Amino acid sequence: MMHLISLKNIYSKQLPNMPKEYIVRLLLHYSHKSVVLLKRNGTVMGGITYRAFTPQGFGEIAFCAIASSEQVKGYGTRLMNYTKEYAVTMDHLSHFLTYADNNAVGYFTKQGFTKEITLDKA
Ligand code: ACO
Repeated sequence: MMHLISLKNIYSKQLPNMPKEYIVRLLLHYSHKSVVLLKRNGTVMGGITYRAFTPQGFGEIAFCAIASSEQVKGYGTRLMNYTKEYAVTMDHLSHFLTYADNNAVGYFTKQGFTKEITLDKA
């Protein structure tokens, strides 16, 4: 729970247009899961929060952020790779969808995301 609250603080700093109440509501909701990236000393550096739609085989990434002092060091890529691995093995998902900030489109593109949704519409 403490890690989730630390992650909430990183999200609200890094995603200033998102209301704090909205972040907390999704982050602490049982339908959402969060992968938290920790330093060796236990400090939370960032995370990804997603909702798994298991019957449909996809997950929706709601939030993704790395603390400002740790950005552009490869941690965001590492975090995404762990999240993909977890979602494939534990939730049996094959795809992630997200509604990314314009300034994060470059990051998501490098993680293999495309602007056109290639999933079957149904
Ligand atoms: N625009 C373009 N390219 C980027 C950006 C960006 N904003 N951020 C990182 N990249 C690039 C890096 O240069 C790197 O490229 P390379 O592999 O060619 O060297 C690659 O993406 C991976 O970079 P990492 O170091 O692994 O990413 P980082 O640890 O910085 O994490 C993140 C990326 C999560 C976007 C971080 O910068 C962040 O927290 N930003 C602020 C919050 C934010 O915008 N979050 C996403 C909002 S959308 C959503 O939450 C659904």
